[in-house]
Amino acid sequence: MLSVSATVDSSHLHLHCQSLPSQDFIDSLPEALFRNPMTFQNPLTYLEEGGKIMSSRPSLPCFDAGSEYCPCVLADLGQCVSCSMLRGESVCNCGWSGICVFDDYTRNGQTAKPGRAEVLGTVIERRDISDTGTCKAFLSRLCVPPFLARWCLFPGSFVMLRPEGTREAYNVPVSIMEASTDGVLEVAVEVQGPKTIALEYALHQNNKITVTGPFWSGLQGLSDLARLGTGNSLIVAKGMGQAAVPQIAKYILHRGGSLMALIGPGTLGHVFICDNLQRLGAAFHVLPRSKDHNIGRLKQEVETGKYGLIISSGSPLQHQGILSMLAGLPEGQAIPNFSWTSHLTMTCAEGICGSCLVSGFRGCKAKFDRSFEAYLSSKTV
Ligand SMILES: Cc1cc2nc3c(=O)[nH]c(=O)nc-3n(C[C@H](O)[C@H](O)[C@H](O)COP(=O)(O)OP(=O)(O)OC[C@H]3O[C@@H](n4cnc5c(N)ncnc54)[C@H](O)[C@@H]3O)c2cc1C
Ligand code: FES
Repeated sequence: MLSVSATVDSSHLHLHCQSLPSQDFIDSLPEALFRNPMTFQNPLTYLEEGGKIMSSRPSLPCFDAGSEYCPCVLADLGQCVSCSMLRGESVCNCGWSGICVFDDYTRNGQTAKPGRAEVLGTVIERRDISDTGTCKAFLSRLCVPPFLARWCLFPGSFVMLRPEGTREAYNVPVSIMEASTDGVLEVAVEVQGPKTIALEYALHQNNKITVTGPFWSGLQGLSDLARLGTGNSLIVAKGMGQAAVPQIAKYILHRGGSLMALIGPGTLGHVFICDNLQRLGAAFHVLPRSKDHNIGRLKQEVETGKYGLIISSGSPLQHQGILSMLAGLPEGQAIPNFSWTSHLTMTCAEGICGSCLVSGFRGCKAKFDRSFEAYLSSKTV
């Protein structure tokens, strides 16, 4: 029986055969795989030799395109989210991320750039938001290298946190509430299951924590925010969804835009960003619990017609509720564009593990267009 395994480093896929394959099996494989060592260096070389790596798939713009992390290992593996050429197609049908990923890959010697480095952050503050009943949540301030904090200033930025010395499987994606250029990140974590329990436990034992980042795919619809953020925007945030709001508010206010934040305790049971919003000078209302989940109140606000953008920061149920409300608005009513914070499960955020797949697209990398709103409404996410 043939047993084949593969390992990937930043630029190579290595295939390892653990027992001798049959001659028929060997004859069926492309010759390109049989270099010594059993390595093909990149899809371009492989394809030149007649190999096929993957079937065609529409391209979407990528959050990482143009950053120092592009081209990534997905380019080496013929799986680039954005570039059809790097996926082995003969024509370019890229989602145009503002740069040519194919060109960058070629200029980089047809190799991927290294992914995000892991750093050891120091916990400089930790305080409970809630420690009652079954719900436990805390705020923390972490000291990290300034370059990492600076790249976390974008709305939708997040980092992966895990206890020092644990495997990547323990990674918890956590939104950046606020980042300062001198290297301090503010985060809020709700303790829910194995990974967040391990994280919380580790923080009690040790003030060091493994931080990987920056990642930017925490907010879908970032281009709408860039385009419409100078006008009037409405943010709706509940529970842990509040964590992403201060950074979004900072971005809008910095551009001279105007913002109203409607915030609620959600299942967490606490509102914890009032101080941040007050400090930033952002307008906000804390909504009381209501039977209709405040959809009526939200509708009133939207019916004023003054908002160009509505940002939903919370659970998929909240995203769905807002989309249904927008869909039910009377004809002639101005309908704001819709952006949403990502609730997808993410483990690597580098396009490898596949935990974030939505209809075959990698949600940790791809900028979804409006057609993906259907997935939010159909509960398939
Ligand atoms: C971009 C992004 C930003 C996030 N920001 C924050 C934050 O600022 N604060 C915070 O407390 N949480 C945040 N989350 C959610 C957090 O990562 C999960 O709650 C955590 O990974 C749960 O892991 P667990 O092992 O403790 O619980 P599990 O037992 O694995 O899950 C508990 C619950 O959380 C959901 N969940 C599990 N993994 C994820 C995941 N990776 N993403 C989303 N939901 C998940 C599950 O569906 C389940 O309902 C964010 C998630 C993403 C994708
Ligand atoms: S989180 Fe691993 S592929 Fe997206």
